[in-house]
Amino acid sequence: MSQIFINGIENLEKLLNDLNTKKFLLVCDASFRFLNIRDTIENIAIPHTVFDAFTSNPLHDDAEKGVKLLLREKCDVIVAVGGGSSLDVAKCIKLDSGISIPIIAVPTTAGTGSESTRHIVVYRNGSKESLGNESVIPDYVLFEPGVLKTLPLYQKKCTMLDALCQGIESYWSVNADVNSRIYSEKAMRLITANMDSYIKENDESAAEKIMEGANYSGRAINISQTTAAHAMSYKLTSMYNLPHGHAVAVCLPEVWSMMLKKDCEGKLTALFCEIAKALGRSTPQDAVEWFKNVLSEYGIKNPSAAGDREHEITLLAESVNPVRLKNNPVQFTESELKEMYGRILK
Ligand SMILES: NC(=O)c1ccc[n+]([C@@H]2O[C@H](COP(=O)([O-])OP(=O)(O)OC[C@H]3O[C@@H](n4cnc5c(N)ncnc54)[C@H](O)[C@@H]3O)[C@@H](O)[C@H]2O)c1
Repeated sequence: MSQIFINGIENLEKLLNDLNTKKFLLVCDASFRFLNIRDTIENIAIPHTVFDAFTSNPLHDDAEKGVKLLLREKCDVIVAVGGGSSLDVAKCIKLDSGISIPIIAVPTTAGTGSESTRHIVVYRNGSKESLGNESVIPDYVLFEPGVLKTLPLYQKKCTMLDALCQGIESYWSVNADVNSRIYSEKAMRLITANMDSYIKENDESAAEKIMEGANYSGRAINISQTTAAHAMSYKLTSMYNLPHGHAVAVCLPEVWSMMLKKDCEGKLTALFCEIAKALGRSTPQDAVEWFKNVLSEYGIKNPSAAGDREHEITLLAESVNPVRLKNNPVQFTESELKEMYGRILK
């Protein structure tokens, strides 16, 4: 399905009127009250009901409470305002309700690109569930980059790194096609060109470009899906309470290095060179080193084991979803997964 992209939060009320909205369900999290777009949304002259009873890395059970509210309040549009967590809850509510209802997504982080994907990430009993289909892709996306001003610096880093990892992983995914590579290359180029101004100088036009780059990374993974770094990250998130982007970013250099090492026949050299070029680096090895330097410069540290390190490495290696690993252009054995986790875990 094709999405409609609109710039500027001031256009939300007109859009809701155009859709003949009688009452909308506003899905947002606790940060909503700090957002500089809050008043514009709350002052819209159309009734709404708020659903905010969920956490970051949301639980499927919480989204089910949102379904009950949607049906009880007879809402006819969902407005999802927030990062990947809020957007995924909104998409999960639509999926589980079984009704055909438009979603307007207003991303407030520049990271997941969830506003343009069919994927939903929710957790049940400490494990990640991957849900979703074409019907949950938001019909409208409303970009308002000014909203990133209140995003805490650490969250800016984590979310932007998620988008960058999505761009890189999408490019090498075995499911990549011409279109996904156009999107992932745009994501890599936009993010690398603007990341320092966005993170270090809080520059507004850089924020706009990072939001655009994050959206391209979402459009890319909507086609190709993510690969081993994402597959390895989910258990790190739940075991060490790491933000999604942080967990992915510490996995990526290990996956990348291991792939370069295993590709001794050079079958993937051209692909890795194209990625390096999109990142502004001269060789694949330079690209990995550059990525590691970005993490150290931004203070994104590897997690420490909480107790029995060897046991935790085994748990982590056993958690990796083999289906997601298959998207990777190089396959890993269980002992290689353990080796990589051994380097990730301090
Ligand atoms: N569906 C997809 O395609 C997809 C893709 C990648 C990741 N994800 C999922 O998305 C979730 C992560 O999303 P995220 O990284 O955007 O983080 P998030 O939505 O969890 O938000 C991170 C934190 O930042 C706060 N926040 C968000 N915007 C803010 C703003 N503008 N000002 C102040 N605070 C703000 C939130 O309240 C939260 O505390 C994970 O569950 C991840 O698995 C989904």
